[in-house]
Parts: sequence; C-alpha cells; structure tokens
Amino acid sequence: METLFIGKNIIFLPEIHSTNSYAIDLLKNVNLSEGTVVHTANQTHGKGQRGSVWNAQAKRNLTASIILKPTFLSIKNQFFLYQIVALACYDSVAEIMKSSQIDIKIKWPNDILVNKKKIAGILIENNIQNNQINWCVTGIGINVNQVEFDPTITATSLKLITGSDYSITLVLETLCKHFEKHYLVLRNSKLSSISEAYLKHLYGLNQFLEFEIHGERKKLLVKGLSESGLLLLEDSSGKINELDVKEVKWFL
Ligand code: BTN
Repeated sequence: METLFIGKNIIFLPEIHSTNSYAIDLLKNVNLSEGTVVHTANQTHGKGQRGSVWNAQAKRNLTASIILKPTFLSIKNQFFLYQIVALACYDSVAEIMKSSQIDIKIKWPNDILVNKKKIAGILIENNIQNNQINWCVTGIGINVNQVEFDPTITATSLKLITGSDYSITLVLETLCKHFEKHYLVLRNSKLSSISEAYLKHLYGLNQFLEFEIHGERKKLLVKGLSESGLLLLEDSSGKINELDVKEVKWFL
C-alpha cells in the first residue's frame, strides 16, 4: 500500500455481517489506529443510508470501512468528512475506469453515479464525545465485478461500464490512496478547496431537476450547498429551500 496511514493496517474478514458494525464494535474495546481498514469478501447484512440495506454479491465488490479519528474537526464541519469520502470514491472510480469520456457525478450527499446509475455508496457513522468527533467509521461499497442487480434499484458497476474485470485488492489500494490524499487536505484545513472539488462534480449543479419536497413534486434549480452541507434548491419564485437528506426525494 503506497500510503502513510490509510490501509496500513487491514483487518480482512472472509465473511461478516457488516464491516461498519464490526468496526464500531471493535472500536468499543480496542484502540485501533487511524486509517485501519476493515475489509470483507462477503458482507451478509450490509447497512445502507437511512436504515436501508446494501446488497453486494460475495467476492465481486468492494465492501470496506475506514476508521478515522478526526478530533481536529469541529462538529459544525462534519459535512467535510462526507465530501472527502465522496471525492475519494469519485477519484478511485475515475482512475480505475481510465476514461474522461465517462460521466461520473456525486449525487448529494455522497452517492457516486455513473451515467445516472449508482456505482458506489457511503455510510458514515460517527462517535461524538465532549463535542468532538472521537472516531468515525466510513463505510464504502463500490460495485466492481457484479453485473446483475435488483431491478428495483438503479445500479451499475465498473464491469458493466467498461466490460473488464478488476481486482478487488487493486480497487481497495486505489481507494486508500485517494482517501488519504483528500483526508490530508481536510487535516490541513483547506476547506474551500474541498468544497470547490465537490461542487465541480455535483450532480445537477445549476440545473433544473425534478424533486419531491414538502410532499410536492416540482422542478427546482440546484444552487449548491449551505455551509453545514444542506442542499440549496431554488424554486420558480426565487425562494431558496435549504433541505436535509430526509426532506428531498430525487428522480433520476
Ligand atoms: C448507501 O448508499 O446506502 C450506503 C451504502 C454503504 C455500504 C457500505 S459497504 C461497507 C460498509 N459496511 C456497511 O454495512 N455498509 C457500508
């Protein structure tokens, strides 16, 4: 691993219910070093955002959790963690697919889309103590060699896009490299450069898209993000709505 600390310590488990849950349980009893990765070949009960499940066929996908100790980061800046993890996944997918022709986007807050289909998902679970982020488990699922998905979800994989198979180890190494690069930018407090990079890749920025907000379906202009990471959507009267994840439904 060509990194300083991300992925230097890898806990590989042939099978586990959820790498996030395993990492969280371990952190309660063991002082794991920052950058420790919990990686499995077969995640049997993967957790998704907002209580959903993350299904990934065994041995065909990357399912891993990276442990951070961002005690330097104030809670009001938590969203920067979401941004750097999304940027790390974005850069990894872009590097592996080696093509500038492919449309890769970050769908707020942190889904990675290729041609409007989800290729990677992120679940961040924080432990906050004394107004500080004590530890953070960043769970990442990247669809790699899987070619069949539940028809009710709009998903894709590296293989479906390029036709090639990829080594999961290579995907993990690539991810750790980009993860460390973006995390170091965060540690150096270069917050504006993180937001700039994130906005550059944000799906729908400055476009009118269809959303459901406050129980109504309408076209709204994606203006960007608030300082705390809420989505800013402008309606036809010029009113800007600041919305939380739970308040927005997207139609891709
Ligand atoms: C989502 O988009 O809903 C988030 C998906 C996150 C999935 C990853 S796979 C590794 C880690 N362990 C989990 O149980 N979930 C995350």
